[in-house]
This record gives sequence, C-alpha cells and structure tokens, in this order.
Amino acid sequence: MTMLDPNRSNRSTTGLRPGLLAELDASTIDVANASTLPPELYTSPDVLEFERDALYAKEWLCVGRAEKIPDVGDWFTVTICDEPIIVTRDKAGDVRAMSAVCQHRAMQVCDGSGNSTTFKCPYHHWNYALDGRLLGAPAMERTEDFDKADFGLPQFQVELWQGFVFVNMDPDATPLAPTLTDYDPFIANYDLADAVCPGTFTLENMPWNWKVMFENFNDGYHANRLHEYVQDFCPSNLTNFPTEWSDDAGVIFREGGYTMMDGGFNATHQAIMPVFPKLTDAERSRSTFALVPPTLCLGTAPDQAFFFLVRPTGPETIDVEIGYIFHPSALEDPLFEHKLKLTDVGVQVFVEQDSDATAKVQRGLRSRFAPRGRYSWQEESHVRFNRWLVQRYRSGQPS
Ligand code: FES
Repeated sequence: MTMLDPNRSNRSTTGLRPGLLAELDASTIDVANASTLPPELYTSPDVLEFERDALYAKEWLCVGRAEKIPDVGDWFTVTICDEPIIVTRDKAGDVRAMSAVCQHRAMQVCDGSGNSTTFKCPYHHWNYALDGRLLGAPAMERTEDFDKADFGLPQFQVELWQGFVFVNMDPDATPLAPTLTDYDPFIANYDLADAVCPGTFTLENMPWNWKVMFENFNDGYHANRLHEYVQDFCPSNLTNFPTEWSDDAGVIFREGGYTMMDGGFNATHQAIMPVFPKLTDAERSRSTFALVPPTLCLGTAPDQAFFFLVRPTGPETIDVEIGYIFHPSALEDPLFEHKLKLTDVGVQVFVEQDSDATAKVQRGLRSRFAPRGRYSWQEESHVRFNRWLVQRYRSGQPS
C-alpha cells in the first residue's frame, strides 16, 4: 500500500528566513517577559509554505467526528493546506484516511460525502477500494511495467480520540493520545466519544491566519472584555492554567471559571441543553478551552462541547468548521431543535464579535506598525502555543 513520504513536496520551500528562528526565542520565555510572535508569521506566504512541511505533513490533523461515518462505505472529504483527504469506514468497520488525489493524473477522486463500495475517479475511471487499493484501470493493458499495486491512494495514519478522527500523513509519526494526557482528566466526565454532534457548519475563507484563530480561541484575556455582558459569567480574571507546560504536550489548554454553576454562552447565561450527568460541581462551574494544533480547537461548557476545525486556505485565510457536541439525552427532548437554535444564536454572538476582532487583528498585522507586543498573565496559553510552534519550526527548518 502506498504510504506518503512526509518529506515529499511538490513545492520548493527554503524554510524560515535567516535569523527568524532566533527572533522567536523572545516569544517562548516566561509570560512576564515574553513578546508576541513576529507579525510576518501571520502574513507571509513563505511561512505557510514552510508550515505545510513542518506542521501539516507531520502533525495529527483533526478531520471531524467519527460518528459522521457510522456505516461501512460512508466517506467524506476534507482539504487541509491543499491536501484533499478521504476519510472512510472500510469493510472491517475501521476508519481509514487517504489522499483523494488520483494516482493517474491527479484529479480528486471524490468530493463531499457519501456511501460507496469503491471510489471511481470521474476522469478516466480508475477505481479504488475503500482501503485505497487500485482495483481497476481501463485500457492500461498496453502500458509497460504497470502494476496496479504501485498506484493505490496514499494511506495516512488514523487515530481516534474522544470521538474525533485525527489523520497523520507521516507514517513514522508517534501516537497522538499520549501527548494529550494532561487534558484528559478535564474532559473525562463528558464521555465525548459517546456524545452526539448533530452537525457542523463551515465559515469559508475567513480573512485571518490560522494562528490568529488559535490564539483567539484560547484567549481568556478578551473573555469579558470583547464579550462584555455576554460572557460576564466567565470573566477573564477567573482564567486558570491548571497544569505546567511540558514540551511533550500536544495540547494547550486553560480553564475559564464561572461566577455561577451551569453557565451558558447565550443571552440567558444559563445552560440550555442537559448538563452532562457525570460532571462534578467544580466542572459545572467552568469551561475548558483547548488547542490541539494545527487543526482542532475544543471547548467545554456544562451542557456542551464545541469545536472549531481550522483549515488554512492561504496565508491570511482559513475555513472554520464549527460543531457542538451534546449528551445523547439532548436529542430525546421534543424541544431539541428549538434549543439547538437558541444555542446557535448564542454562539453566533461570540462568533460575530470574534470575527470582527480577528479580521482587524489580521489587518493590523500587515501594518508597518504591527508590534511585537507583550502579554498579560491571562495570556499564558499564547506562550505555551508559541513553545509548541517554535519547537516544530526548529525541527522542520532545513539545515
Ligand atoms: Fe483519475 Fe485519470 S485522473 S483516472
């Protein structure tokens, strides 16, 4: 079966410009002394090209919920940094992921979602099995030295965590789950693997860099400032970083304490859906906000988890797929659809305020006056994110 060489690239990248790595040291020291990342990291096409190899070809990429493909033959596609990926449930019932790029002349063999027994490329009808093997290729009998076994769809590693599907293009990548153990105790009582996600919606080509999105998601400093009134129950000064940072960590997370129990991110400040039944009082009095870079932002509230799947479409643009996860009992409520609308309206307020801020941040980052700013203690998560990032930039920088 064809496995992808993570160092294979059809674009030439020269790495980060000389001297830039050294400049990043100022962003990885303790938060009281650290400076923000250089603005060019958020605007430069060269940096995204570098990240394509240094991050996206090597890290675990979250592509969605496993429940999206419950039956054999179910599939969906997703494109991350110009790599179209098929995620499918194979005949054995296992989740698989592979490149969607036809190994004949590179057409995308399928797009969207569906259920099928094979993937037939529309262009010349090369036909692939659910496990990516090339089953048939018409009129190739006169082609010398052509072995179908050499032209399967490149296979990716797959790992499930909390009901999310992660894929990794690097066949040598080490497992994801051991890098997330610091966060596991904070979400264990949600049983997210058995919870339900009723669907997602996608904001396309939003005008900011993927790192601006990650920072905004995990930024307790703006909580009841940008979101004054709507987030007053979860204020910035109750931001907490309950664990020490470890360089082995694949997750950056914080707690956002509430001023009351069972708060909710909507105009009532109350949870709308059933509260997850195993939560302790302490867990019912806080949210968690977590990053599993470079694709997943995951948060929890007493009655829901919420996630953003972040996919760069350019150095200054991203697609953001947003979903909620509820306890299964939520769907049994005859008023579920109404409550879902209320939930959605509540979240949209935050999305609109955040979108306005992040679009203006991105615009500011293009300015000749864009700063290397300083952090509040409430922004410790950004320094941890910087450490995650710079470590990988160093490993990915060509020598
Ligand atoms: Fe797919 Fe030709 S490009 S069959």
